Amino acid sequence: MQIDISDLKQLDDFAKVFSASLCKGDVIFLDGDLGSGKTAFTQLLLKHLAYQGRVKSPTYAIYESYDLPQFTLIHMDLYRLSNPEELYYLAIEEIFDPNNVVIIEWPNKGKNVLPKATKTLGFELIDSSKRQLNVDIT
Ligand SMILES: Nc1ncnc2c1ncn2[C@@H]1O[C@H](COP(=O)(O)OP(=O)(O)OP(=O)(O)O)[C@@H](O)[C@H]1O
Ligand SMILES: [Mg+2]
Repeated sequence: MQIDISDLKQLDDFAKVFSASLCKGDVIFLDGDLGSGKTAFTQLLLKHLAYQGRVKSPTYAIYESYDLPQFTLIHMDLYRLSNPEELYYLAIEEIFDPNNVVIIEWPNKGKNVLPKATKTLGFELIDSSKRQLNVDIT
């Protein structure tokens, strides 16, 4: 399924629908180039899950955890990993606990170490005025 997300309102509308579909144990891959909207989407998703605090880009920390009433959401950004095996230095058993929802930017940097995605969103910058989301929900 492809969705036009050329403006933030369209991305926000999709984030709302998507937030309602999340289940414990979901592992969500966010594919797409630099600046394609992966962090913006995660911030909107947390807003729709009624998270009140600040949402930081986890690039330096690799991941941030958000305790929500429904589940803990863990937002990972693997951009700075030079090797997927660096993930073993993190508490990956705790991160991929079946009670959590994990959302991952740059999942290809964690190939062969990350579990399989339950849902994949591909962020695509078509041109300076058009953005598209490719949705793969299995
Ligand atoms: N659908 C959209 N419409 C308009 N602006 C957007 C949209 N999505 C993201 N942006 C804007 O684009 C900029 C970059 O977005 P963002 O940081 O979310 O990208 P990213 O995919 O997380 O990049 P990175 O790979 O560097 O982490 C932000 O200023 C954001 O507000
Ligand atoms: Mg980002």
